[in-house]
Amino acid sequence: MPDESAGGALQSKITELGAAALAALDSCASPGELDAAYQQYLGKKGELSAIMKGFGALSPEEKKSTGQVMHQTRTGIEERFAARKQSLEEEALAARLAEEAYDALRPLSAERGHLHPISQLQMQVEEIFSNMGFRIMDGPEVETDLHNFGRLNFSDDHPARDMQDTIWTVDGNLMRTHTSTIQVRTMQKLKPPFRIIAPGRVFRYEETDATHENTFHQVEGMLIDRDVSVAHIIHIMKTFLSEIFEREIKVRLRPGYFPFVEPGFELDYLREDGRWLELMPCGMVHPNVLRAGGIDPEEWSGFAFGLGLDRLVMMRYGIEDIRHMLAGNLRFQQQF
Ligand code: PHE
Repeated sequence: MPDESAGGALQSKITELGAAALAALDSCASPGELDAAYQQYLGKKGELSAIMKGFGALSPEEKKSTGQVMHQTRTGIEERFAARKQSLEEEALAARLAEEAYDALRPLSAERGHLHPISQLQMQVEEIFSNMGFRIMDGPEVETDLHNFGRLNFSDDHPARDMQDTIWTVDGNLMRTHTSTIQVRTMQKLKPPFRIIAPGRVFRYEETDATHENTFHQVEGMLIDRDVSVAHIIHIMKTFLSEIFEREIKVRLRPGYFPFVEPGFELDYLREDGRWLELMPCGMVHPNVLRAGGIDPEEWSGFAFGLGLDRLVMMRYGIEDIRHMLAGNLRFQQQF
């Protein structure tokens, strides 16, 4: 029965709104759009509340029938909203799972990283010395004056301190200038006889140029035993270098000064072009250093050496500038 009363007009508006709302919910493609559509129709400031402003003017009977229509419409929209919400969320979840699915057989990226040439060489040095019975030691990069200088026979005002321009920390410690600190730390830890190497980063307060960096890498070596002589240094170094360069290597010693060795040497090796090249400082461990480490120099003797890893990498690959090492330039690093 068509109802031309105010109540009837309101009821048909409500029914129209209901149909529009259901169509809108059906066409939403995401949970977000769905929430927006819900607010548009059923929100506090939505279309249904706007229409219902006419409700107060109706007669009691009209209120009753209109209220029923309103309630049915509202329930219908809410049910459709809940159903659409659930299916949209399921679709979204399925899409995300499909995207995240782990494919164990997916080809690996062609852009894999690799070890820096210094790390590669360091590992090779560690292996060669390990095979000769050397143990690998480590120590901190921030050190005390005592570990870096004092127990290595540098007195407080020793001019040899100037050989190693030092970066000091505000609390009076320093960035180790060499890995010889590990000689000191090893003597505190191990009882002789022992043989160790200690690779690590070292720091100097340097003006940088093609052959100087403020941060570089050394491998310290120390062997303590009975009756150690210079012949042992030569033998171990020849063995080591022949492995590294993959040919029989000739070495020679020239005098060199470091407060913690006596006698001290510069070790040169003979290049394939017949020229001698300075490679590593070394020497017999100074009795004062042994004593400072709690080792009796009457009973024990030993040698120590310092190997510059950066220089060795540069020689191996013909690199002309040490600053390439830490520049982090991929075009450089990808060559190794
Ligand atoms: N520690 C010295 C330096 O860095 C090198 C060295 C090590 C010399 C061991 C002799 C023996 O200059």
